[in-house]
Amino acid sequence: MKAITQDAYGTTETLSYSDVPMPVAGSGEVVIRIKAAGVDPSAWHLMTGLPLVGRLALGLRRPKIRIRGWDAAGVVDSVGAGVTRFAPGDEVFGTVPGSFAEFACAAPDRLQHKPVGLTFEQAAALPTSGMTALAGLRDAGHIQPGQQVLIIGAGGGVGHLAVQIARHFGAHVTGVCSGSKTAMVQALGADRVIDYTRETITGSYDLILDMAGNRPLSEVRALLTPTGTLVLGGGENGGRWMGGTDRSLRATVLSPFTRHRLRALLVLPKPETLTAVAELAASGALVPTLDRTFALPDTPAAIDYLATHHPAGKVVIAVA
Ligand SMILES: NC(=O)c1ccc[n+]([C@@H]2O[C@H](COP(=O)([O-])OP(=O)(O)OC[C@H]3O[C@@H](n4cnc5c(N)ncnc54)[C@H](OP(=O)(O)O)[C@@H]3O)[C@@H](O)[C@H]2O)c1
Repeated sequence: MKAITQDAYGTTETLSYSDVPMPVAGSGEVVIRIKAAGVDPSAWHLMTGLPLVGRLALGLRRPKIRIRGWDAAGVVDSVGAGVTRFAPGDEVFGTVPGSFAEFACAAPDRLQHKPVGLTFEQAAALPTSGMTALAGLRDAGHIQPGQQVLIIGAGGGVGHLAVQIARHFGAHVTGVCSGSKTAMVQALGADRVIDYTRETITGSYDLILDMAGNRPLSEVRALLTPTGTLVLGGGENGGRWMGGTDRSLRATVLSPFTRHRLRALLVLPKPETLTAVAELAASGALVPTLDRTFALPDTPAAIDYLATHHPAGKVVIAVA
């Protein structure tokens, strides 16, 4: 089968469109025929091995997992011994290591049945970004109906889903994005949209989800109510060693000494969170917007596009 492989950290030039052996479902595993795979900034982090602190988990000298990709939607091809939740032919989505491939192996608890109303491309856009948006607002942010909620990076992969989820929870939503995305963010349900390239962010917010990560902590905290909550979800600024985690670490250390709740967001795949994302999508409350779809051999171009073009919503690889 074909897959996007990588044997050394680096730019997209280190990626190859290669022939690799078909995966075989071991005990407790599911093999999926991939229909579509989601691309998010983690694809760039896994490819470059940056920030360097991440290599402690990803592989010190080279990536431990040779095939790139993480989010996927597809059809169950075979199941190993002991798997009862899924059967061949089921349409699924979830986090699947090595999803930039024609087939990949996954743990059943990382999968959910694909909501029928979504295409495979839409479903592949959801796992990591949807879980991040939900965990940021619900678990870290303790979102409540009627709250004033600010989402910075509201036109991006996580942010555009967070706008919809915050609305679903009954919040009054203000989205911050650049000019070309204001219409999309408004259409997704934001009550107010701020084009940060033209105006200063104003207001006082009970909860801020910052997915852009490039403003000083003091500047974002100044937008909180006296006991408001700031959830720091992202950021590509920072040095080679710590990257965007630097600001989040400082916020975590500071939090016990202020009336603000400052929370760093690190989202790991959880079955319950993926189930909740699937239910939101099935109810129609959460619909991913796709900016652009690439074919599997063009995955390097997709990763470059995400890093340089500030897409509106999500970038997806259509595999089959
Ligand atoms: N903590 C976690 O567990 C976790 C999980 C997933 C992702 N992340 C991180 O979260 C970040 C966002 O992820 P994503 O998938 O949403 O990425 P994305 O699709 O690239 O979106 C980032 C958004 O930020 C906006 N932005 C950039 N500069 C901005 C500024 N100065 N002010 C306001 N908005 C600005 C960008 O578009 P415009 O400038 O055009 O509006 C873009 O829409 C990344 O750093 C990613 O690594 C963290």
